[in-house]
Amino acid sequence: MTRHFLGLADAGGDAVAAMLNDALDRKAARAAWPKGRPDADKPLAGHVLAMIFEKNSTRTRVSFDMAMRQLGGSAIVMESGGMQLGRGETVADTARVLSRMVDAIMIRTDDHAKIEELAHHATVPVINGLTDLSHPCQIMADLLTVIERGHALPGLQLAWLGDGNNVLNSLIEAAGLMKFTIRVGGPEGYEPDAGFVARARAAGGEVRFTRDPREAVAGAQVVVTDTWVSMGQAGGEAHIAAMAPYQVDGALMAAAAPDAVFMHCLPAHRGEEVTDAVIDSAQSAVWDEAENRLHAQKSVLRWALGQL
Ligand code: CP
Ligand code: NVA
Repeated sequence: MTRHFLGLADAGGDAVAAMLNDALDRKAARAAWPKGRPDADKPLAGHVLAMIFEKNSTRTRVSFDMAMRQLGGSAIVMESGGMQLGRGETVADTARVLSRMVDAIMIRTDDHAKIEELAHHATVPVINGLTDLSHPCQIMADLLTVIERGHALPGLQLAWLGDGNNVLNSLIEAAGLMKFTIRVGGPEGYEPDAGFVARARAAGGEVRFTRDPREAVAGAQVVVTDTWVSMGQAGGEAHIAAMAPYQVDGALMAAAAPDAVFMHCLPAHRGEEVTDAVIDSAQSAVWDEAENRLHAQKSVLRWALGQL
């Protein structure tokens, strides 16, 4: 069966753990090498990934391209506006054509139904590079970063501050699969997807909600936030005003566990969801987190292509 990675649950907890172990091993094996040098075993030699972008991206674009180079393969990067997809060719037909020419497809799009449609008609793996609903590749990198900072995933206490967006939905999915606790501090009307919350709780994760940012971070080993207004959202004054109490500043970090790790998927809006003092502090893991997109996605690609 074709292995699509539309969400972490497509792989399951055991496969997520296997991918994280593989990523740690591969990262260590090439420490200090030039970044374009392929891994010694070139496990995806001869393989090509097609990437489709319907939204802006820096990290996802570069990390997948570099991932394919380091695995011994290559990538084709396309903006949907330059494709026939951008002038009406159907998602289904695009899936059928690309499946005849490349070995895997990564897409960043808006409506999650589009990636489901693409996967339904593709005969090669489809990987979610962000939709309005979820961002599972980001969370693979986040889990890797948490482990590198010395924390086991089961029983981890993690706090999320701000908007209940695509990144939070995938983090909640991870809490269920890897059995950790998330306390969400955010305003009414900006909650994450109820389906993700219900599934995570049913799978053994703990997801709690509070309107009080201090209560959210109390005892948290990891504090996570993201932009208050995601790509494609209208935003506006009321939205920003609702988010303002949830800014991660030095006082809020001090209310978390001693030496709590700060994480953010980036891009950051400095002075909004996080202060310069926090994102540039020794507690901030954001640059490791960004680098880990590369290492985690190499393992996602290997899993999707049946190597893990
Ligand atoms: N975090 C993340 O997905 O970054 P980009 O939007 O730059 O890809
Ligand atoms: N929640 C953000 C993530 C960007 C990587 C967005 O969707 O814009």
